[in-house]
Amino acid sequence: MSNTVHYSDLGLANTRDMFARAMAGGYAIPAYNFNNLEQLQAIVTACAQTRSPVILQLSKGARQYANGTMLRHMARGAVEMAREMDSDIPICLHLDHGDSFELCRDCVDNGFSSVMIDGSHLSYDDNVALTRQVVEYAHRFDVSVEGELGVLAGIEDEVSSEQSHYTKPEEVEDFVGKTGVDSLAISIGTSHGAYKFKVKSADEIPPLRFDILKEVEQRIPGFPIVLHGASSVVQEYVQLINRYGGQLVDAFGVPEEQLRQAAASAVCKINIDSDGRLAVTAKVREYLAQNPKEFDPRKYLGAAREELVRLIRHKNEAVLGSAGRG
Ligand code: G3H
Ligand code: 13P
Ligand code: ZN
Repeated sequence: MSNTVHYSDLGLANTRDMFARAMAGGYAIPAYNFNNLEQLQAIVTACAQTRSPVILQLSKGARQYANGTMLRHMARGAVEMAREMDSDIPICLHLDHGDSFELCRDCVDNGFSSVMIDGSHLSYDDNVALTRQVVEYAHRFDVSVEGELGVLAGIEDEVSSEQSHYTKPEEVEDFVGKTGVDSLAISIGTSHGAYKFKVKSADEIPPLRFDILKEVEQRIPGFPIVLHGASSVVQEYVQLINRYGGQLVDAFGVPEEQLRQAAASAVCKINIDSDGRLAVTAKVREYLAQNPKEFDPRKYLGAAREELVRLIRHKNEAVLGSAGRG
């Protein structure tokens, strides 16, 4: 126990107040994934500039890529950087798609203020038991826990699912009651990545299942809901990537208007990873194509970082409504 680090010592916050305020204010907290320095700098800069509370999200893959210890220190650096910018926005460090009790415990012991345990691919009873086990441990340290019911299409880290299985509203009350989770991710038609729908044009994108969301809200009024797979797959980036040698075909995401509608409801946390990846890829490709003699990573990663700041500011201000709430 002596080697553990509590998130409060890193200046981080759990999700309790963030979600209570988002629920009352009719907006959603952005949860941005990061894997490297430039992404984190962009998230902190944009959220400090727009005065938006923020959830910094790390997947198991991100921890493997960048080293857990390094990332924890980066999160501390993110808090200090925000304070240097004269911003006291609340910042949460969250484990995205935790797949075992051991991983969640390791994150709780290493400075995370929130963890997700994704038991959505398990049987209902096994999901309840695993989620409950994580909640019992995490709550001893005042760390928030997100659970999930229903499976998103696509890849959920190592959990793959051919088809989306929408959340069954009749299960949510029992799940929340038995597990003690602080928030619940649900499946209403989104999926991870850049190919969310099997369509050939934006006009064919099917609407999210707001009827399921409404029924969930009626069964657990005031309970924070989480929307995964919420990137819009910004077409400007898809086009830039393809103009400079990429091959992203029929890549479409969730229209902004539907995200605004979700943010105004019980959805308190909106997860965005793919749009950030697209912004970085588009700008790196563009920069290198236009500057073939350049080989300083600060130049092309700097261009990508600048674009990420623009993207995140836009999401906070014009889509999630989190700007000015920090
Ligand atoms: O939901 C998954 C996130 O986008 C993280 O993806 O496992 O490739 O880091 P990753
Ligand atoms: P996107 O792939 O739509 O960005 O979703 C990210 C996500 O849900 C991370 O958990
Ligand atoms: Zn997700």
